[in-house]
Amino acid sequence: MITVAFYDTKPYDRRSFGQAPGAAGLYCRFHEFRMTEETAATAAGAQAVCVFVNDRLTRPCLEILRGTGVRLVALRCAGYDNVDLEAARELGLAVTYVPAYSPHAVAEHAVGLLLALNRRTHHAHHRTRAHDFSLDGLTGFDIHGKTAGIIGTGRIGRAAAQILAGFGARVIACDLFPSFDWARVHGVTYADFDSVLSTSDILTLHVPLTPDTRHMFDRHAFSRMRAGAYLINTSRGGLIDTAALIAALKEDRLGGVALDVYENEAGVFFEDFSDRVLQDDMLARLLAFPRVLVTAHQGFLTREALDQIAASAIGNLLALNEERAFLEGTVLCAGGMTKS
Ligand code: NAI
Repeated sequence: MITVAFYDTKPYDRRSFGQAPGAAGLYCRFHEFRMTEETAATAAGAQAVCVFVNDRLTRPCLEILRGTGVRLVALRCAGYDNVDLEAARELGLAVTYVPAYSPHAVAEHAVGLLLALNRRTHHAHHRTRAHDFSLDGLTGFDIHGKTAGIIGTGRIGRAAAQILAGFGARVIACDLFPSFDWARVHGVTYADFDSVLSTSDILTLHVPLTPDTRHMFDRHAFSRMRAGAYLINTSRGGLIDTAALIAALKEDRLGGVALDVYENEAGVFFEDFSDRVLQDDMLARLLAFPRVLVTAHQGFLTREALDQIAASAIGNLLALNEERAFLEGTVLCAGGMTKS
């Protein structure tokens, strides 16, 4: 039986992993702290580590893991911008991820944020709880008939596009690899990034964070957006240059911004700071804007998604245990596990 050290875990992780089929075949050590260069040595005695979005698997961190005898880094998320894959490859470490868990979980959250932000549902909730039943300041707009721009039409972007098409929005999209057949079926039109940026009333981001997409929403991009446009980011915080976003918000050029991710979220999101001093001035500034809605990276947080994440990650951990091939489509680096 192999030992697996889990990092950045919460009660819902322990529940979904504890209940996943096959979990009894693994010895699991759950840590609440994150995996970093400083904490990597705690993996000693484990053959695999299971990590999440804000664990930082830099080269020095991976070197320490290799030194402790770890053979597999099993990500329990779809993004993998937090792992130095080149270093993992050189060190012979296997790295797997969960590319295909419920895209609906994230797409539905993106649209949910848009609806709440547009109709001021979060403000209305506070008002009615205080017995204030006035409506002034709560005016939104119909999504029907508006232009919704989808940046990235992978699994999540396509699900979001279909929901927005269902509202009667005109959906336009951009992607490095357009899915023309899918677009035809759902009435989606592809255009280049600049056209999507400048013609959309609503923009929702679904590209991964890569060197090419980092800060794709910078000062220039904000200046190209329609006045009063809404921006939704449930992908990765690094897609947006937060300083440029704050500048655009201060100039009052955006209608609303909903963020489930934030570029400096590591160490803050997933934690309770209600009785502590928030040291991040940019996040504090964002939270002070009336038309900004922030959730703390909860797009994935549905029962279905958690179960699928656990099943996929456990499948790969069992594969390591039994020295067989990892699940198809989940391997970022094979390490020594190339044979089926
Ligand atoms: P995917 O890999 O299915 O789709 C990504 C799409 O982006 C692909 O079609 C790709 O061609 C396109 N793309 C990549 N670089 C591009 C560029 N420079 N310009 C235009 N298009 C580009 O990924 P999926 O499953 O749709 O997930 C998208 C992202 O959502 C993930 O990378 C992850 O960062 C984020 N995510 C967030 C979650 C949350 O809880 N908020 C949960 C799961 C994923």
